[in-house]
Amino acid sequence: MLQLQKYQHMKHLFIIILCFVGLIVNSQNRNDVSLTPPMGWISWNLFEGNINENLVKEIADAMVNSGMKEAGYKYLIIDDLWHGGRDGNGNIFPDPEKFPSGMKSLVDYVHSKGLKFGIYTDIAEKTCAGMPGSFGYEIQDAKTYAEWGVDYIKCDYCYAPGDLWTAIDRYKKFIKIVRDIKPDMVFAICEWGQRSPWLWGKEIDGNLWRTTWDLRDTWEHHKYNSGHNGIMETLDRQVGLERFAGPGHWNDPDMLVIGLYGKGKSASANGAAGCSVTEYETQMGLWSLLAAPLLACCDIRNMDEDTKRILTNKELLEVNQDKLGKQAGRIWKDGVIELWAKPLSDGSFAVGFLNRDDDKNSEVSLDLKSLGFEKPVEARDLWKHKVLGVFNDSIKLNVLSHECRILRIKEKD
Ligand code: GLA
Repeated sequence: MLQLQKYQHMKHLFIIILCFVGLIVNSQNRNDVSLTPPMGWISWNLFEGNINENLVKEIADAMVNSGMKEAGYKYLIIDDLWHGGRDGNGNIFPDPEKFPSGMKSLVDYVHSKGLKFGIYTDIAEKTCAGMPGSFGYEIQDAKTYAEWGVDYIKCDYCYAPGDLWTAIDRYKKFIKIVRDIKPDMVFAICEWGQRSPWLWGKEIDGNLWRTTWDLRDTWEHHKYNSGHNGIMETLDRQVGLERFAGPGHWNDPDMLVIGLYGKGKSASANGAAGCSVTEYETQMGLWSLLAAPLLACCDIRNMDEDTKRILTNKELLEVNQDKLGKQAGRIWKDGVIELWAKPLSDGSFAVGFLNRDDDKNSEVSLDLKSLGFEKPVEARDLWKHKVLGVFNDSIKLNVLSHECRILRIKEKD
């Protein structure tokens, strides 16, 4: 048994080495899809299967009217449970009760608003909610999606074999088919980080890959013992992954729970009662630093002012969308205090000062030399939208319990 396990490990290591070699050889051939992290809205966390064409149209309208589109959110993605079945020729069709006008006319509507459309499938016979998956129908489904005008595919891994090789093989084949039919399709791998997709996702031309199980609408989720994550457990899983992200290929720590306030169908399963406004700000700040895909999932038809303000914070979105495409790394941790730093294309850094303490506010200090600053710097607060001043050796901030203050720091000219 031990021998077998050892052999399995060696096999995984071998595949990963092959992937790296392939990555070096092929890195000239990447296509130019999703050069900054995708931004949009996705249906799952709030609505699960309660989706239909009227809802999608209302969400499209709201994306425009609320200022979300202007802020950069452009993908409207329907997740699981849109499916009707397959016809006699094997062609997939949407649930006729939920989508009586068919998918093409809905996609046309979304496009007419200047938005893009995303759809969900699975690399096995069934999706996670038991709908028809794309396994064995990859060419047919890719053609159907392209005919409908789909711009983004989220492809799940439920019901697929657990081994690494099958995951790479299936995703690689499907992505190649999709790219041959529609080269600029965004392809989102969703195998929840179980087979370290950051090691092979880029090589097989995926644009993003989930790094974790589904995120719940809560600060920490371990007490519910459900296997899912809150914002903090998800954050911890991103440590060290920064070297695998870059333009066109992103680590995906799952959706933005901002504005759900405990009302999400799946987001609040197992008792997740929602977050405070400060905690939602913290997710937005951290996900911006992480160069994470920003997929909102609250009801953007009825956002309160805080939710809108958080989701459309222009200065944070600039950090997230920075063309250098670097993901923040954790540069300091001392108990509940952490510093996360993201290098930006103009030579500045966005730095998150995080206080994970449940009760106490804290003073958090950044040593500027740790970021390579030798001269005085100017620091701008991206939540308060103002310059805090000029600093020489260090910056000390008061940070509330569960707050993450974000500064943009650059050398003073
Ligand atoms: C999985 C994914 C979720 C969602 C559901 C749909 O759990 O991780 O993001 O797509 O399936 O069934």
